[in-house]
Amino acid sequence: MAVTHVTDSLLADALEEIATDVDALFDALLPVPQDARARLVEAMRYAAIGGGKRIRPLLLRATAQMYGVDRDVALRAGVAVEAIHVYSLIHDDLPCMDDDALRHGKPTLHLAFDEATAVLAGDALHAFAFEVLSDPAVRADPFVRVELLRALGEASGLRGMAGGQMMDLVAETSHFDLPTITRLQQLKTGALLAASVEMGAILGHVAAEGRTHLRGYARDIGLAFQIADDLIDREGDAAVAGKAVGKDEAAGKQTFLTLLGPDRAREQARMLVDQAVSHLADHGREADLLRAIARYIIERDH
Ligand code: IPE
Ligand code: IPE
Ligand code: MG
Ligand code: MG
Ligand code: MG
Repeated sequence: MAVTHVTDSLLADALEEIATDVDALFDALLPVPQDARARLVEAMRYAAIGGGKRIRPLLLRATAQMYGVDRDVALRAGVAVEAIHVYSLIHDDLPCMDDDALRHGKPTLHLAFDEATAVLAGDALHAFAFEVLSDPAVRADPFVRVELLRALGEASGLRGMAGGQMMDLVAETSHFDLPTITRLQQLKTGALLAASVEMGAILGHVAAEGRTHLRGYARDIGLAFQIADDLIDREGDAAVAGKAVGKDEAAGKQTFLTLLGPDRAREQARMLVDQAVSHLADHGREADLLRAIARYIIERDH
């Protein structure tokens, strides 16, 4: 019990810290200009500051920290990933996609502003991510920066989030089998989570062959994460989740839940988390935060 308690507070403190740090860096990097672009930056700030669990920056920093990477450096890279995540949510909520009214407990960006501004804020956050990541403040070594940029680029585009979002839309009207749904979720959600871990390892100068166990960990938590998201959609409370629930069924969307049913999906998520933790078996206490994040991913209610 005592160990669990320590791990709980380790996670709670880390979640609180990353949320504060991510907000502060977005705030510093996105000053509102005194010209006609002000509305765009206000929209970017509305979406980026003060919401979300910041699980991707946390994963990045927790991984980087195992290899002694400076916390502020890891934070900058984490904010780059989070900017992609926030942009993906802005576009995901648009009427032409999921048509959602609530995000992070507030009206979605296209309702708080307007659709065109929401599209542009997503575009600008997408570009902002690569601008932040290519800054020498992240790493003086250009080879490391290029490796980071490539990891984030791959995870964001057709081999990652955007490709998965396309498959997700197609999944509303065609029948996918379990391997295809797994692939969809790996791209849609898993890729950015995996990139966060990968980028932490890149910053830590972990050679590619030394990252296999981390990739195994990331892959497993990525799938577990989406099962948890689908369970929240099915069983969660919108006030707690900060977003609408019951949307997947209404859209006729195929997910792990429609293929496995909630009980088997929940069981699968637990198994994936155990497996994720087992990939860290060669690490000592330094991997405790990654272990705690894996458990949190399926215990969360938002
Ligand atoms: C929600 O992601 C969208 C998915 C990729 C499943 P998060 O649960 O990480 O979103 P936040 O924490 O509200 O930003
Ligand atoms: C969206 O998945 C994943 C993204 C890449 C944005 P969902 O559509 O299930 O995410 P929520 O439930 O709206 O957060
Ligand atoms: Mg969606
Ligand atoms: Mg959605
Ligand atoms: Mg969802």
